[in-house]
Amino acid sequence: SAAPRVFSGIQPTADSFHLGNYLGALRQWVALQDSHDAFYCVVDLHAITVEHDPALLRHRSRVSAAQLLAMGIDQERSTLFVQSQVPEHAELAWVLGCLTGFGEAGRMTQFKDKSAKQGTSATTVGLFTYPVLMASDILLYTPEPGAGARLEVPVGEDQRQHLELTRTLAQRFNHRFGDTFVLPDGYIPKTAAKITDLQEPTVKMSKSASSPQGIVDLLEEPGPLRKKIMRAVTDTGTEVRYDEAEKPGVTNLMRIFAALDGTTPDAIEARYAGSGYGQFKKDLAAIVVDALTPIRERTQALLADEDELDKLLARGAERASAVASRTMEIVRDRVGF
Ligand code: ADP
Ligand code: NA
Repeated sequence: SAAPRVFSGIQPTADSFHLGNYLGALRQWVALQDSHDAFYCVVDLHAITVEHDPALLRHRSRVSAAQLLAMGIDQERSTLFVQSQVPEHAELAWVLGCLTGFGEAGRMTQFKDKSAKQGTSATTVGLFTYPVLMASDILLYTPEPGAGARLEVPVGEDQRQHLELTRTLAQRFNHRFGDTFVLPDGYIPKTAAKITDLQEPTVKMSKSASSPQGIVDLLEEPGPLRKKIMRAVTDTGTEVRYDEAEKPGVTNLMRIFAALDGTTPDAIEARYAGSGYGQFKKDLAAIVVDALTPIRERTQALLADEDELDKLLARGAERASAVASRTMEIVRDRVGF
């Protein structure tokens, strides 16, 4: 049977992805390319659910796409595109929105959290219907329903409820209008690592970090990068030991080390037994610099060659459009358009 489809999206909401994005999500995108028929999307429609600057958004969409290509997403083996270049995303979202209960959407905990943070006057209807757009992002790339047809979505814990809604909407559509969508399956990628802030090791590394010293950007230059790792908060004691509760700082650094060097915390403990934090951090800094340098350099090269990047993204949009427009053709017909 055909390779399973996989869909995943990421928002272009920062000037660079960070090491948490990479080790927690994006590296798995690269790994899935050969086993899956992969559709990867820079979801710029989602980025305007909050107030934004147009020039900055355009820039960030390009930088995001360039970074994904630089880390190894390959337009020959998967389909990488920018969401706004495939208008069917918005069209299907309208149809699915008309199948979504107001109360049902209102139960989304992410909306409740985000809107509470922003206040009523800054909260848009777009933010409210964001999960419906996400459902449409996924379901547009449904394979034809039938034996063995699979649609997979790698999800973090925070997106589980949205994926559940996606399944509900697919089922509802199928029931009302005929079998159209394969119900997507979510899974947490086995190799995904949760990375925490270098300065506050009990909170996750995030672009909304309280200090830039806590976050490692993929585009960071080697000098500052080394400094950041050397200045990462470690814990009392000197032992390189994996202990989430007692040693969150060292444990986080060990996770980064293990993920990038293809080793295990046990092997790292054995290697640094008796040698303290200093040498461990120095080696880790070298490993991080080695891992990120090619990504940074390829990103810069892609951004310098605008025509080449445009061409690569146009190719992705064209392939995504072929699938999305086929799905919408069926949807439009079944809905009565
Ligand atoms: P941020 O928290 O910086 O806003 P996003 O929420 O945009 O990042 O996350 C994009 C993707 O990266 C998601 O799949 C998310 O699970 C993953 N991710 C973000 N931060 C981390 C982290 N610190 N460790 C592991 N994965 C992360
Ligand atoms: Na593939």
